[in-house]
Amino acid sequence: MKRPYDELMSLPKAELHLHIEGTLEPELAFELAARGGVTLPYASTDELREAYRFEDLQSFLNLYYELMAVLRTERDFEDLANAYLERAAAQGVRHAEIFFDPQAHTSRGLELGTVVEGLWRALGNSEANHGVSTRLILCFLRDESAASALATLEAAKPYLDRITGVGLDSAEVGHPPVKFREVYEAAAALGLRRVAHAGEEGPPEYIVEALDVLGVERVDHGLRCVEDPALVERLVRDRVPLTLCPLSNVRLRTVDTLADHPLPAMLDAGLMCTVNSDDPAYFGGYAGDNFDAVRETLGLTEDRLRELARNSFLASFLEDDEELRARYLAEVEAYTFT
Ligand code: ADE
Ligand code: ZN
Repeated sequence: MKRPYDELMSLPKAELHLHIEGTLEPELAFELAARGGVTLPYASTDELREAYRFEDLQSFLNLYYELMAVLRTERDFEDLANAYLERAAAQGVRHAEIFFDPQAHTSRGLELGTVVEGLWRALGNSEANHGVSTRLILCFLRDESAASALATLEAAKPYLDRITGVGLDSAEVGHPPVKFREVYEAAAALGLRRVAHAGEEGPPEYIVEALDVLGVERVDHGLRCVEDPALVERLVRDRVPLTLCPLSNVRLRTVDTLADHPLPAMLDAGLMCTVNSDDPAYFGGYAGDNFDAVRETLGLTEDRLRELARNSFLASFLEDDEELRARYLAEVEAYTFT
């Protein structure tokens, strides 16, 4: 008999909220630092892990950006992505829509092509090597200017065959979605799909703005929608997917404890929830670990767990391959919990 944990590791799922830079495990950070001659301000992996005591989103972001110094070459990005895809595959991830933060690298002097081509070396072969289909989503840093976001989209034009959509991340409060109206309009005109982080630390109004002004098709996090009943009603009616990240919410203190997470109530309200890992190297778990944590602590039933897996494929940007989506959905329905 499979143990409940192993069982959830083989439940087929899509990962829709995953920052590739947030998959940098301490061991790989030190390996890449040694390879590239970069000195990290930590003596060991244990000392680095000690720094993972976050107060809020900003305190996490400070470390997240600091560690990116070890990513310098195409091979570094390729190795990072392959390490993630291997772990994801082992946790039942069959499809991954992967965020990356170009400005966090171009601001350090890297070419955008180094980042995209490096990631693509792994993503382009991922179905064959890992059994995981992938899409790439370019995120704008919302604490940078709107002009910088526009310049980033412009610089990405030679790589649009590799990029499915755009997103918005980094420090949320004080950087409302409306700041990025123009770049989202330009992205839509280029045929890119649109998502944005909203309602993680920011208020429910940011979720409304992301929908109305940016035209997003999914909301990343969206947790604080629960504070606005009219918004919940709208999200339910329009079946807007929310990419929730329970372990991230605990580590960044968006919820007090996992037991306080509103996921069960959100599912009961009819919201189209998905469960994802955000920055798994920092928050204590990959996609399957997040499924396991919500089953264990929130007591989700098998029906609910299957619903979450089904939602993840329904909310995926697989419109260009409906056959593949149908195959994944059939796998979810055929899955037997023992
Ligand atoms: N960048 C990486 N992880 C993030 C998160 N959880 N929220 C906003 N920006 C991020
Ligand atoms: Zn995120």
